[in-house]
Amino acid sequence: MQPETAPAGECLSLIHPLTSILDHVELGKLFPADLPLEVELGSGDSTFLVEYARRHAEHNFIGVERLLGRIRKLDRKGRRAGLMNLRGLRIESAYFLEYLLPPHSAVAVHIYFPDPWPKRKHRRHRLINERFPTVAQQALAPGGTVYLRTDDANYFEQMLGVFAAAPAFRPVDTPAELSAELTDFEKGFHARGIKSLLAAYCLITDYSPPHLASNINDRAAAAATGVGRGTPALKTDPGFAAASDQVQQHRNDADDERAQEGGPEGIDCEESPQQKAHEV
Ligand SMILES: C[S@@+](CC[C@H](N)C(=O)[O-])C[C@H]1O[C@@H](n2cnc3c(N)ncnc32)[C@H](O)[C@@H]1O
Repeated sequence: MQPETAPAGECLSLIHPLTSILDHVELGKLFPADLPLEVELGSGDSTFLVEYARRHAEHNFIGVERLLGRIRKLDRKGRRAGLMNLRGLRIESAYFLEYLLPPHSAVAVHIYFPDPWPKRKHRRHRLINERFPTVAQQALAPGGTVYLRTDDANYFEQMLGVFAAAPAFRPVDTPAELSAELTDFEKGFHARGIKSLLAAYCLITDYSPPHLASNINDRAAAAATGVGRGTPALKTDPGFAAASDQVQQHRNDADDERAQEGGPEGIDCEESPQQKAHEV
């Protein structure tokens, strides 16, 4: 059964039920107030996002997570905290960023401890890959920032490499107030003496790629950069095909998750010590 939607005012569920995977999410219908938007991809049990949203009532927040059990935790914790500026979406995060989030709508994208895919042959599954900065550039509002954290040195190198090769971004410091807000996995890593590797990249406001420098409209820009935004063209876009595969993967994961009912939630990454220790 679909969870009931939570528009302005009364909040029955913070989980936004997607009615279409072809149209952009209507942000105006998601939140009671039109505030700058921050997105966390792979928000896990939402330890970070709930606390951060609580402290930043001046922004709206979306947590994107593919596991039902974890997105339900966002709902429970967020409602318990009385948050009107937080919503959860259960969807594959790369697909959300590229196809569902309205272009240039987020002032920040947070990605904390994404699955590292340590085996060389699996690295193509990593979220932060060569293509990611282009997609992030489309998603971010001018001056918006991507915040990254990982415990995996090899993945961190890859993150630094792909953004070093992205002239639209410049490295910036992560504000101390932000880095002090730990995620669930991060707490577990710190307890085991494993440090977080942090990086942040800000979209250069006046950047325009050499081949797009003149007065060019969004559709042409999207075509030139390979970032398919117009829904009519989606089905012929190779990115859409890849994303569709990921959506299928998401469905398979959901099936696995259902099959594991009563067992551990994590099927693609290790369970954090916090998750093992307590259910919120
Ligand atoms: C290692 S956990 C980190 C969770 C959280 N960010 C934290 O630091 O505690 C990675 C999370 O990303 C989610 N995830 C992995 N791949 C995803 C995808 N393609 N789309 C959406 N969520 C994904 C997993 O279900 C998991 O909750």
